[in-house]
Formats: sequence, C-alpha cells, structure tokens
Amino acid sequence: MNPPEPVQVLDLFPEERAALLELLSGLTEEEWARGIDFLTRTGHITDDKRQEFILLSDVLGVSMLAIEINNKKPAEATASTVFGPFFVEGSPRFANGDDLANGAPGEPCFVQGRVLSLTGEPIPDAHIEVWQADDKGFYDVQYKELSQARGRGHLYSDREGRYYFWSVLPEAYPIPDDGPVGELLEAANRSPMRPAHVHFMIKAPGYKTLITHVFKEGDRHLDSDAVFGVKSSLITGFQRHEPGTAPDGKKMDVPFYTMSYDFILSPAEEKNG
Ligand code: BEZ
Ligand code: FE
Repeated sequence: MNPPEPVQVLDLFPEERAALLELLSGLTEEEWARGIDFLTRTGHITDDKRQEFILLSDVLGVSMLAIEINNKKPAEATASTVFGPFFVEGSPRFANGDDLANGAPGEPCFVQGRVLSLTGEPIPDAHIEVWQADDKGFYDVQYKELSQARGRGHLYSDREGRYYFWSVLPEAYPIPDDGPVGELLEAANRSPMRPAHVHFMIKAPGYKTLITHVFKEGDRHLDSDAVFGVKSSLITGFQRHEPGTAPDGKKMDVPFYTMSYDFILSPAEEKNG
C-alpha cells in the first residue's frame, strides 16, 4: 500500500485559500520582501515605551474595528474610541474645581459635565481619568526634561454625578510619525494629524469602563483623523469667552474657554451563575 499523500494545510480550507490567493494575486517577490522589511522595522522600533504595532493597527483602522466589535452598547451610551499611547498609570489626584493643567502651556479651559446612567440617573464617585495635549500639541510625557504630570490627572464625580476642572484648550497634533507607520502614511498620502481632543477614561462600579475622547468642534482634522477615532457624538463646542467671571465664579483676567460634556455609561454585563 502506498503511503498517504501529504496534505497541505491550506487545502483543508479551500475558501480561505482562495481568498488569500485573490488578496495576494500579483504580489511580486520584491513587494513581499518590502513587506517583511516593514514589519521587521516595526518590531525593531517597538519597546516598552513605543508600541509601533498598536500604532500600525490604529492607522489601519483595526483598533477602531476591535473597539466597535467589543463595545456594543445602546445608542444613548457615550461612544468609545481609541486609547492611544499617552495614558500614564498613577496620574495625580485632583478635586473638582482644580487645575489639571499644572503649568501646561495654553489658554485656560473650564471643563464640566455629568456622569449619568442610561436612564439619566447621576453616577456619583465615578473615577475620571483625563489626559490631553497642550497648545503645542504635546503631551507632558513627550517633554524629555519634564518630570511632573501636566494636563493629566484623575478626579471623582460628586453626589449629583457632576465633574468640573480647569485645564488648557487642547491642540491638534501628529501621531508619532518618525517610524515605519509615518512612512506608510506618507506613501499613502495620508495626514498623520489627529484633531484636538481631551481623553477620558471613566470607571464606576456596576458600569462598563468607558474609554473615549471629546473632540473640539470646528477642528480642520475632524474628517481625516489618522486613527479613525472621531464619532460625531463625541464632537462638542469649546466656547471662547472674554475676560470675566467663569462658571465656577473664578475671575478671569484673560480670555478663557468652556467645554461641557455629559458621559452616559452602560451597565456592566451580568455575570451568569
Ligand atoms: C492619542 O490620541 O493620544 C493617540 C491615539 C492613537 C494613536 C496615537 C495617539
Ligand atoms: Fe490624544
């Protein structure tokens, strides 16, 4: 009896094989080698501070796709968006009304809103992490000489679910584009810019953790976000005011901005059994 023919793994998956062949049809060996070189360089630039593979996933839209698939929620709940590389564990704690800017350059901005359930009930004591870029479009961690947090911190919603703090008006900025992902964007004639935004991560017992941003209305990069993170429900106005009294009663002798946004959390999934 003859020994059985070796089975090619792909032969067991005829549809997948056909799809792969179609996807790669016309691929030259030179293109294949360039692809391998791109991925190798993506690996080499990645370390514990820089994650070029996540950035690649971000600019390909895969990160947003994974977020969509895994964060299905009712339409009223605040949409989730990308996490990004600039979150830092252990941010300083602030009280409502404090200034998170901590010296970050930029025009003062008073941020306020509420954390609510789907039915509009206030959620008190929600843990709210905030991080944002300054008026140069830089996060504190991008300044080599800076050792303290600026434009980042955490606070808790009050008994009525309200939160409020001072910071600075965020500015648009390019994602880290000095590596293979930057080359990819340039080759595709795509902008590395992200529209101005403030990051929020909100945690409350009994609710799903919300990771999102609030984007500045009118920003010219809203339609071309390098990482596809913009959703229209996350865009809001940052209103400019002449010197005068701010909503918290503070007397401002320079122009300032106000931004107001309510976050609506969806309930955590019930554990079966
Ligand atoms: C950010 O918004 O911080 C960000 C998100 C994805 C990639 C790069 C930056
Ligand atoms: Fe950001």
